Amino acid sequence: MRLTVNGRARRVDAAHHWTLLRLLRDVLALTGAKVGCDRGECGACTVAVDGQPVYACQMLAMQARGKEVVTVEGLASEEGLHPVQRAFLEEDAGQCGYCTPGFVMAAYALLLRNPSPTEGEIREALAGNLCRCNAYGRILEGVKAATGKMDSRPRPSRGQALRGNDGEGCG
Ligand code: FES
Ligand code: FES
Repeated sequence: MRLTVNGRARRVDAAHHWTLLRLLRDVLALTGAKVGCDRGECGACTVAVDGQPVYACQMLAMQARGKEVVTVEGLASEEGLHPVQRAFLEEDAGQCGYCTPGFVMAAYALLLRNPSPTEGEIREALAGNLCRCNAYGRILEGVKAATGKMDSRPRPSRGQALRGNDGEGCG
């Protein structure tokens, strides 16, 4: 199957029963999306698919065929951290950090579609993400700090050369 991951066109083998999370972590070695509950309850595995936040543990890899997937690894560039990442860092929006990639991606997807959300809209957008360290207050401040600062830098496009299967292939 073909898909775009973090701006790069990829061609990968994936078994029909694999989740997108397994494809990202085990084949593409993108371990930023975390395995938490693995049943659609915690948001630790959140990535953006065609700009929408998705629990990667609940989406089959095949469902991502032809789509654009962005993981937390795809946010930073040679110029530095993405504004959402920088805001989380500056606002100390985390403790152990396990939930952070999921929250960052949920915030990223929110700010893509709504660059200046209200606090209520932020809370609603993050409602599907859990933090066992109870850092919700700092996380909220992090998203507020990123408001209006979304990255407008051009990203690599689908036109990039397809690469072969960069991982282990399907089992
Ligand atoms: S690991 Fe996917 S929602 Fe918890
Ligand atoms: S910072 Fe530890 S789970 Fe959120």
